[in-house]
Amino acid sequence: MGVMHVPLPRAADPVLVPVARVRAWGETVFAALGCAADEAMRIVTGLVDANRYGHDSHGIGLTTQYADHVRDGHAVPGRTPRIVTDAGALVALDGDLGFGQSLGAAAMDIAIERARHFGCAVVGLANTHHLGRIGRWGERCAQAGLVSVHFVNVRSHPWVAPQGGTDARVSTNPFCVAVPHAPRPLVLDYATSAVALGKTRVAVDECRTMAPGLLLDADGAPTTDPSVMWREPCGAILPFAEHKGWALAVMCELLGGALTGGGVQDGRTVHPMLNNMLTLAFDPARLGTGGTLDAEIARLAAWVRASPPVAIGGGILLPGEPERRTAAVRDRDGIPLPRRTLDQLAACALALGVHVPIEG
Ligand SMILES: NC(=O)c1ccc[n+]([C@@H]2O[C@H](COP(=O)([O-])OP(=O)(O)OC[C@H]3O[C@@H](n4cnc5c(N)ncnc54)[C@H](O)[C@@H]3O)[C@@H](O)[C@H]2O)c1
Repeated sequence: MGVMHVPLPRAADPVLVPVARVRAWGETVFAALGCAADEAMRIVTGLVDANRYGHDSHGIGLTTQYADHVRDGHAVPGRTPRIVTDAGALVALDGDLGFGQSLGAAAMDIAIERARHFGCAVVGLANTHHLGRIGRWGERCAQAGLVSVHFVNVRSHPWVAPQGGTDARVSTNPFCVAVPHAPRPLVLDYATSAVALGKTRVAVDECRTMAPGLLLDADGAPTTDPSVMWREPCGAILPFAEHKGWALAVMCELLGGALTGGGVQDGRTVHPMLNNMLTLAFDPARLGTGGTLDAEIARLAAWVRASPPVAIGGGILLPGEPERRTAAVRDRDGIPLPRRTLDQLAACALALGVHVPIEG
């Protein structure tokens, strides 16, 4: 199978838009979509923080898809989690297609409350609209002093091929682990696919190809053209790290999907962006190791950072650090939004009767 290379048209430079301006624009748009002010703020904070942290795939560019989902009944403003099972330290919730930014926050508040009471908690959250950047939920638990692990399955059109397969069977199933640490937690947060689906959309918007080894075209042949994910018949993203990523993706299907009640992928597309998440949270103080955790992290950091870097000016990072570095730059300079994304956002706002420009 040869590598297919499709030349893409040249992109105009992205426009740097101040964070506050994106936020204000987004809150107006989500209010026009029927969200109360506090929900609009939660949704926009989730999207804009993804941009600030460098994950533009999960940023404000999703607004057009979210607006379509509200129109089609796939995202419903104003929902709170419905308790399906309450067994003390174990709680099962159903999101009834509400916005993940609201339901995720409410579910984490329950996990935090139960973990403080019992020492640990298992909280299943089924049937929510998109939960966005999963690291946000790990950070919320870490701010409360808890260690957390999050398994998510996405019941959308399948986008990811199994290891050894040639067409898509599951979705990008993110996985997250967060460990509290002052002043900032350590946060592992990534899709179990070689690349998040939204990053193929950003690459299309920026008119660029992607690295080899990430994508298959609709015939199962390797390609660097991200547009294979956005046309019919659709291509597939490969799992990250071959069998290792694939095995973790399967566990996200089972813990995130089967064990929350949200269900696993089976070939039926039930929703464009349905998320199910299982959260395990515990208090390290109750395990007896909370008092030494900061010192252990510092000891590990000092040891690993002493490794000679492969490149001059390079260095060793811990999970969560790249995002904070990007946020410092973007808080100062603004969020880079491709011309095509800005045009789509402007058209979306106009269709809702919103005349606030996203650009200055
Ligand atoms: N809700 C959904 O349906 C859904 C689906 C897929 C992905 N996502 C989100 O998409 C976002 C992007 O996912 P991704 O797979 O593109 O992430 P990614 O491949 O950019 O990996 C990000 C993770 O790797 C860590 N990292 C990066 N460089 C590092 C380094 N040099 N040293 C140590 N750690 C390093 C980061 O701190 C972060 O934890 C995530 O926030 C994820 O939750 C959400």
